This record gives sequence, structure tokens and C-alpha cells, in this order.
Amino acid sequence: MKAPNATPRLPGHRVAVYPGSFDPVTCGHLDIIRRAAKQFDHLIVAVLNNTSKKPLFTVDERKALLAEVTSDLPNVSVDSFRDLLVHFMRASEAHVIVRGIRSVTDFEYEIQMASTNHQLDEEIETIFMMTNPKYSYLSSSIVKEIAMFKGNVQDLVPDEVRAALIAKFAD
Ligand code: PNS
Repeated sequence: MKAPNATPRLPGHRVAVYPGSFDPVTCGHLDIIRRAAKQFDHLIVAVLNNTSKKPLFTVDERKALLAEVTSDLPNVSVDSFRDLLVHFMRASEAHVIVRGIRSVTDFEYEIQMASTNHQLDEEIETIFMMTNPKYSYLSSSIVKEIAMFKGNVQDLVPDEVRAALIAKFAD
């Protein structure tokens, strides 16, 4: 498995964080990761370890899946955080948050988050990337629902994730 923070950090490196629940990572997330990785020297995919939610996959499972599906991207690492994102940003010496926008319905929530993070730390910028239209309807929740009822999630999630979903919902 990919070591956390695999690429060395050099002074002046532009480090961005792509935070989320990733329960599990979908093809839509992976598309954002691949595109964002081209824009920064280093991209940290950060999984929220939220104790109040009941996720399908544990944080370690989500991190392992993310590490597998990004193993060909040398400037991408996978990590997790527990409290405020801005605290994780500071600890990671990162100033840019990357978020994907699928539709106008995402926009209100995203603006609220970006404004909150900016209020908490004005050095932090959020940049939005449009989700590839082919994944604009896709979410981890939809994928879980399809998999739970034994539907086909091929093309919605990477193969490793599909196998993990099938194993989770095996009778
Ligand atoms: O994939 P998600 O669930 O839409 O990601 C949401 C996430 C993890 C980015 C957001 O909930 C978050 O950053 N939570 C950490 C707590 C925090 O920093 N809150 C203040 C900003 S809203």
C-alpha cells in the first residue's frame, strides 16, 4: 500500500487537500483526484473520521481503497482527520481545499463550507472543480444503495471498490 505522504515536501511546494467522506470512493471522486493532482505539486486526499456518522467502510478501509485506486499517482497521498479541516490543513502545510461540484444543488452547501473555512483561516482558499458530467448524478450513497440490492456498480466505482462492496453485502 502507498505510504502516507509518499512524495517529499519541498519548500514552495503547492499542496492541496481534497477532503471528504469517501464512503466509498467513486469514479466521480477519482476523476477529481486525477485532475486536481495535475494542478498541484502534492494532493492529499483526506478522509473525515466522523465518529457521529455510521459509515459502511471503516476509515482504514476507505483509506486503503483510496490508496489502491491512486497507486499510479505519485504526487497523491491519503490521510485522515478527526476535527476541523482547517486544523488538518495547517498541520499539512496546505492552503488549498479542492471540492467537486456536481450541480447547483451542491453549490449552497459548498459555499457555506468554503466561507466557514475561510472565516476560520483566511489563508485558506477553496477551489471548485466541475465534476465530469458523466458522473454528475453519482454519489457514494447511490452506489451503496445499488450495491446493497445487488445491482451493478460497474463503471460507477473502480474495480477494487466494486469488489469491496460485493464483499460487504455478501449474505
Ligand atoms: O464527502 P463529504 O461528506 O461531502 O465531505 C464533507 C467534509 C468532510 C469536507 C466536511 O464535512 C468537513 O470538512 N468536515 C470537517 C469539520 C469541519 O471542518 N467543519 C467546518 C467546515 S464546514
